[in-house]
Parts: sequence; C-alpha cells; structure tokens
Amino acid sequence: MPAPRVLPLDETLDHQSRACARAGSLLYAEVLAGVAADVEAQGVCADLLCPRADEPFASALPLRFLGAVHRLVLDGRAPALAAHYPSAGGEPGPGLVDDFLATVAEHAPAVEARMAHGVQTNEVGRSAALAPAYAAIARRSGLPLRVLELGASGGLNLRWDRYWYDTGVSHLGDPASPVRFVGVWQAAGDLPDLSGPVEVAERAGCDRHPLDVTTHDGRQTLRSYLWPDQVERRTRLEAAFMVAAQVPAPVEQSDLGRWAERQLADPTPGMATVVVHSIVWQYVERAARDRLRAALRRAGEWATPGAPVAWLRFEPAGPVGDLRLTWWPGGDEVVLATAEYHGVPVYWGAPPRP
Ligand SMILES: C[S@@+](CC[C@H](N)C(=O)[O-])C[C@H]1O[C@@H](n2cnc3c(N)ncnc32)[C@H](O)[C@@H]1O
Repeated sequence: MPAPRVLPLDETLDHQSRACARAGSLLYAEVLAGVAADVEAQGVCADLLCPRADEPFASALPLRFLGAVHRLVLDGRAPALAAHYPSAGGEPGPGLVDDFLATVAEHAPAVEARMAHGVQTNEVGRSAALAPAYAAIARRSGLPLRVLELGASGGLNLRWDRYWYDTGVSHLGDPASPVRFVGVWQAAGDLPDLSGPVEVAERAGCDRHPLDVTTHDGRQTLRSYLWPDQVERRTRLEAAFMVAAQVPAPVEQSDLGRWAERQLADPTPGMATVVVHSIVWQYVERAARDRLRAALRRAGEWATPGAPVAWLRFEPAGPVGDLRLTWWPGGDEVVLATAEYHGVPVYWGAPPRP
C-alpha cells in the first residue's frame, strides 16, 4: 500500500472546513475556520491538535475533534455551545466560535480522551441504494435472503427490510416504518424495481468496533459524529434507532476477513447468501481484503442455483459511490447504480454518471 498522506495541520483544517461548507454544514465550516485561527494563535486547540499533526489525513483528525466536542454538547455538559447546535435544539448565532473555544478549554481532558476514538458513523441513507439490489437478488434467486454485513457499525443497515421504500411505481418494506425513502431514486431509464417477494431469513454482521445501538452510549456515539446542522441525517438516524429497538441484528466484533471465512465455509441451501458492505473498503488492510476475496472465491465454487452467493457492495468510485453486484454460480458482475456517499439520491442504472 502507498504511504499514508500527511498534510500540514493548517491545510487539513482548511480542507475539512471547505468540505463541510460544500456538504452543507456551514456551522462546522465556521467552527473549523475559528479552530484554525486559534491554532495559529497557539490557543487551546493548538494544545490538542498540534501533538497529532503528523497523523495521516485519512484518520480524520478534525472530525474526531469536532465529534468529541459534539458529544459534550449532546451529553448536556456544554450548555453555552448547545445554544448554537441544532442537534441540541439551538441555533447558530454570534459567539459560536468563542463558545466552542471556551468549551474546549473547559473540557480539554475529556475532548482529548475521546479524540483517540475513530469516527464512527452508520449511514441509514445507504439502505436506499442497497434495497433495490436486495429485491433484485430475491427475484433472481426466488429464495429468502441470508444477509451478512461486513463493517456493519451499529447494524442499522442490517434492518433495511424494516424501512419503507417507494419509487412511485413499486414499493418495498414496512409501510408503517419511521424510516422512509420516497422518490429518492433518479434514472435515465426505468426506476429500480422494488417488487418481491423479499424475505430476510437471517441477518448478521461484523465490525472491528461494533456499536450497540440498543444502549444510550452507542446511540450517543453515532449521534456525535453527525454534523449538528444536518437535520435530515439526524432525523433518519433517530428513526432507525426506533426500528433497532424492535428488530435484533447481531454485530460481532471481528475483522471482516476472518468473519466472512467462517460464515462462508459451507453452503446454506434454500437461502441466497448476500455478503454486503458499504463505505468500508478504504479502511480495510490488504490482508483482510485478500482473505475476503479468497472466501468468496471458495464460496463461488460451492454455490448452486439452490444456494447462490451474492457480493453486494456500495463503495467509493470518485465523486459518487458505485453499487456493484457479483453473483455465483457464474461470477457475473454488474454496476447497478451510483449514489451520493450518504446514500441518497440514488442514480439507478450506471453509467451514465450524474
Ligand atoms: C464508514 S463506516 C461505515 C459503516 C456502515 N457500513 C455504513 O455504511 O454506515 C466503516 C466501518 O467499517 C468498519 N471496519 C473497517 N475496517 C474493518 C475490518 N477490517 N473489519 C471489520 N470492520 C471494519 C469500521 O469499524 C466502521 O464501523
């Protein structure tokens, strides 16, 4: 693998501030500009960030820092800053940066401790891209699905069949679900076909650092890494927590290569085995990737029409992600769609790219 990219801290902060502005978080763009000025002035942010300045860019230092402070807000420990954070019922106003810096100064040891954790998200919007592919797998196999998610985080996308999807032409899922995807697909040709029957017979996942979303701590962790002014993502996350409270979905702590090997050791007749992952691949070391590919190759050898295996993944492909499906027996591969990294909107049928 190439050496990890390291940028000077001022460039990292500037890059992240512009990325937040582009993605619609003007609040974080403003905060990060203030953090950069504070680092320049050797303020409290310099004490916390400069010792980590040589960490790889991919470690997302600014987002770990912002997430650590957001957690204080969500836990009710930073009322002045909460007054600016929509996630805590506030509204950004004059004094945002000053209140942010004062919060960091007051809670520096807690912020530092939490910065040691990686960014943990579980993006429910990705189910909107994956669900039509699950429907296609169910129709092609005529079998119930055995869903195995790698890098499942809190397992929210393992409950995808308990959400509601409606293209206006076909629909799928639970019509009473609080998680709703209506009209989020675009297509040059036909919209995705959500027709069934689609049945999930088994669901299970693994993650290097699984989160238990049935606990307050697990939910607060996922909330803290959302950007405070991104209302739509937060609303979807809260709705998915409600579903998770009703629908068990075990997520085992394991490296995905080892876990997939175990899960794919033997055929499971009468079910279509679906190995699925979304926005995980860039974090996976070469050894684990090789282990997964080898496990899939071996499963491809035992796969039959009565025990097929599908490898479904939504992973980065430039400015959008590709939704890709490989099918055994046979090993044919197709790109079904592209989608924004948070899942919606979904551009069905690829290429052309948006
Ligand atoms: C960006 S998150 C995506 C989570 C989820 N798939 C989603 O779409 O919301 C990446 C996840 O992959 C997990 N992960 C990274 N490398 C892994 C590995 N080698 N084995 C298992 N999980 C891994 C991380 O812990 C993290 O939860």
